[in-house]
Amino acid sequence: MHDVAPINPWVALAYLVAGVFFILALRGLSSPASSRRGNRFGMAGMGIAVVTTLVTHELANPIEVIGAIAIGAVIGLVMARKIAMTAMPQLVAAFHSLVGLAAVAVAAAAYLNPGAFGIADEAGQIFTVSRIEMGLGIAIGAITFSGSVIAFLKLNGNMSGAPIILPLRHLINLGTLAAILGLIGYFLTDQSPAVFWTITALSFLIGFLLIIPIGGADMPVVVSMLNSYSGWAAAAMGFTLHNTAMIITGALVGSSGAILSYIMCRAMNRSFISVIAGGFGADDSGGAGGGAKEQRPWKPGSADDAAFLMSQAENVIIVPGYGMAVAQAQHALREMADLLKKEGVNVKYAIHPVAGRMPGHMNVLLAEANVPYDEVFELEDINNEFAQCDVAFVIGANDVTNPAAKTDKSSPIYGMPVLDVEKAKTVLFVKRSMGGVGYAGVDNDVFYMDQTMMLLGDAKKMADDIVKALNGSGH
Ligand code: TAP
Repeated sequence: MHDVAPINPWVALAYLVAGVFFILALRGLSSPASSRRGNRFGMAGMGIAVVTTLVTHELANPIEVIGAIAIGAVIGLVMARKIAMTAMPQLVAAFHSLVGLAAVAVAAAAYLNPGAFGIADEAGQIFTVSRIEMGLGIAIGAITFSGSVIAFLKLNGNMSGAPIILPLRHLINLGTLAAILGLIGYFLTDQSPAVFWTITALSFLIGFLLIIPIGGADMPVVVSMLNSYSGWAAAAMGFTLHNTAMIITGALVGSSGAILSYIMCRAMNRSFISVIAGGFGADDSGGAGGGAKEQRPWKPGSADDAAFLMSQAENVIIVPGYGMAVAQAQHALREMADLLKKEGVNVKYAIHPVAGRMPGHMNVLLAEANVPYDEVFELEDINNEFAQCDVAFVIGANDVTNPAAKTDKSSPIYGMPVLDVEKAKTVLFVKRSMGGVGYAGVDNDVFYMDQTMMLLGDAKKMADDIVKALNGSGH
């Protein structure tokens, strides 16, 4: 056993308060109505944790530390202001890669100078428990880093979103993972650089190998999983650094990311275990995405037609998707809904858990446009209402309405629960062209149904035109 320096009770208290703030932040973020407050709690908690750490440690060079914080803060501020909502997933992936890299850097620093971290005896032998923490920290950190870089490149379009399937990948992955675990075990008896750096290199490699076989449609789950990994890496390093705030924060990020991944897996009907194992989204045939589209008859419609049909309806369900986000059509959409409500139409919004490109994407946009929360329904709460609804107004969504997910076993989205828009009496489908496909790259039978009217055009322009038609003609 080794002695750990007694923790200053004030520091412990400050970290505890920070931890409570983080928990309140998560609580706040669980609903759009309280999310701003949640964010503020998070910022306050992080502020307390950073200031406590700074004032209670002897800083070798405060200017350097403050300079580094200032540079990071400016980069964060500029990015947060400039980033388009649609580019949020890749930004999140990029941030996770930095968390992973930070864990690797901390573990490497602790390994190279264990005395400075108080984790070695006088002979320079690192304590056993610290070796475990360090081994796990560097492995999870490195996996998070390389996995997030690949996720970023795929989401940002720098790398094809199609799964890259290596032959024998399961064997290679399992072998690499077993080697990492074996080496972490061996590290307990031998702290030589060769062991430490081999663990690091293999972990970078496995992060890369785990993510390349994953196809685009499964990326959201991956980003959330990596989020969880980054939390566990931080928690492991919190043990090495004897920093309670890091342990708490890491555990919160780790467990909330895991819960979110689980919820998303359920929403997409993926097995949680196969997600953790990697390559879960792709079967070895490479998926059926992007198949040739058939030339089938479809019915075009105009904004005037849509305004007429919806104003005559009793119930309208709006299904927003990625295209609404790209077009920033949420304000026009709410205006349209307001006008319909004035005419006595009952308007609801149906949100699929993976509509758009990130969890909660649609909720955030609708909240921004002040859509009342009580009009917004999750898939399981509204799906059986499509059968009784007069008009399903699908705006910029595609995959999340595709009935192939229920019937076509060869479809890449087979098994994902979808919104049953095809059961509505009339389906109005807003998209820019018949050629455009959704994220999974597959055609959608709903376009060609008798009761479907295709409203081709930009989502915002179409919603604006419908608003004009509703205003102008007094339908
Ligand atoms: P998608 O299936 O991606 O379909 C988007 C539709 O919007 C397309 O049909 C596209 O057709 C149309 N569109 C694009 N820009 C438009 C514009 N300016 N105006 C009007 N329409 C426009 O969207 P979805 O239904 O929301 O499904 C989400 C997909 O993304 C799922 O496959 C999901 O797995 C995946 N994904 C989700 C997440 C999360 S967590 N939400 C993260 C990553 C990936 P045109 O090109 O013809 O306009």
